[in-house]
Amino acid sequence: MSLTEQQITLVQSTFTQIGPGAEAVAAMFYGRLFEIDPSLRSMFKSDMRSQGQKLIQTLAVVVSALDRLDQIIPAVQALGRRHVDYGVTPEHYAIVGEALLWTLEHGLGADFTPEVKEAWTVAYTLVANTAIDATTVSA
Ligand code: HEM
Repeated sequence: MSLTEQQITLVQSTFTQIGPGAEAVAAMFYGRLFEIDPSLRSMFKSDMRSQGQKLIQTLAVVVSALDRLDQIIPAVQALGRRHVDYGVTPEHYAIVGEALLWTLEHGLGADFTPEVKEAWTVAYTLVANTAIDATTVSA
């Protein structure tokens, strides 16, 4: 699976679009995440505001690097390995993906077209699989 140039542009432009309200978007994301699976809440030890900032910062780095994903693979693998220490399992990535797409849908409104949904799904799946594989395949 890989992203087309058009999909990269769609992910980057929609991420820029929600940029100004990033803090509210992060709050929406965690709200939805804990609604889908309340048991995840206890995994988060730091305050949710700084956690939200870290999430948005990391997303910004990943989104800007979608056209050169090979360059950020080691960082995504390291992120995946750190997540094992946080108690994250491969199954959790699907839940986070669902919360992310829901947040984009509500943050973008009419601009959340089927193409945008597909582009974000492919981008998230690529990154999530890279993180998961780093924890299940010996390096
Ligand atoms: C590709 C998807 C993900 C990205 C980009 C991401 C990003 C981050 C970042 C940047 C941090 C800050 C600490 C660090 O860099 O190690 C973090 C921490 C954390 N993430 Fe993720 N994450 C992802 C997936 C997940 C999933 C699937 C879960 C499961 C619920 C999760 C739960 C956590 C927890 C529990 C912490 C530690 C929070 C704390 O110490 O309070 N993350 N994540």
